[in-house]
Amino acid sequence: MNIILDCDPGHDDAIALLLLGSNKKFNVLGITTTAGNQTIEKTTINALNVINYLNLGYKVYMGANKPLKRDAVICDAIHGESGLDGFIFPKHNLKPENMSAKDFMVKAIKESKEKVVVVTTGPMTNLALAILEDKNIVSNIEKIVLMGGSIGAGNVTPAAEFNINCDAEAADICFRCGAPIYMVGLDVTRKVLVTEDIINRMKKINNNASKMFTDLMITFNINQKKVFNLDGGPLHDPVTIASLINPNLVHFEYVNTEIDIISSSSYGRTNCDIPNYLKKEKNSYVATKIDVDLFFDIIEEALRYYNF
Ligand code: BDR
Ligand code: CA
Repeated sequence: MNIILDCDPGHDDAIALLLLGSNKKFNVLGITTTAGNQTIEKTTINALNVINYLNLGYKVYMGANKPLKRDAVICDAIHGESGLDGFIFPKHNLKPENMSAKDFMVKAIKESKEKVVVVTTGPMTNLALAILEDKNIVSNIEKIVLMGGSIGAGNVTPAAEFNINCDAEAADICFRCGAPIYMVGLDVTRKVLVTEDIINRMKKINNNASKMFTDLMITFNINQKKVFNLDGGPLHDPVTIASLINPNLVHFEYVNTEIDIISSSSYGRTNCDIPNYLKKEKNSYVATKIDVDLFFDIIEEALRYYNF
């Protein structure tokens, strides 16, 4: 599977990268970064740190430093000052490529002999910019799989989830572009909580990958408790990659989804018409159920893959 991961690491983005590197079915064309959990400089350094630590060998293309129309926001209350607080990565010489994320996406998707899967685990700005630059790339996108949105409540406003709320205009462009789009939202990602039991289970694996996982998750959990009073951080972003590793993991429903880019208090809401009230054309597959045990088996298997 030819794949691009667009991310803003981010504790859960880092684990998405870890999952990606653990499975041979993925032919990773490149990693693109966006501002989101932290500034673009920090999320790019974090991506490089994870790639170096896990010896993944992926090229990194630095992307948008702010959303299409709004000012940049960060999420340091959860991800800390570095964007990946809790683990000290070794020093290295890796640098991002000279090409921008948007230019890379356009080129890689256009030139790919087989259709490309684009996974986004941050604000969707880079992909929207690529589509705006060259609409023809859409026909060579197999599907877009995003972590973002919610059928129910949000996590930054009553209505909206962080990634969509950061750049709803970008999400709107992606949802309307015509490529098959799979939304992995809070409805399922808030079910996969990294409880103390999970941390202890993964700690026992006792390799470098499990050390990174447990150290990051301990800090993530402390912050999730402070901000959301959750006993265990929701491992949002890895659900995207895990759903590609095992198609039985997540159940999707085919529905019409519209992104609210107009109203003020529900800006960034993903209006998923599950009951089909509006009888509008269906345009999206929206995650409604997840097999939680299977998810953590996938995480464990991925950690064990890194046999060093
Ligand atoms: C999303 O917001 C970010 O903080 C996480 O990395 C995830 O992508 C969850 O709302
Ligand atoms: Ca993210």
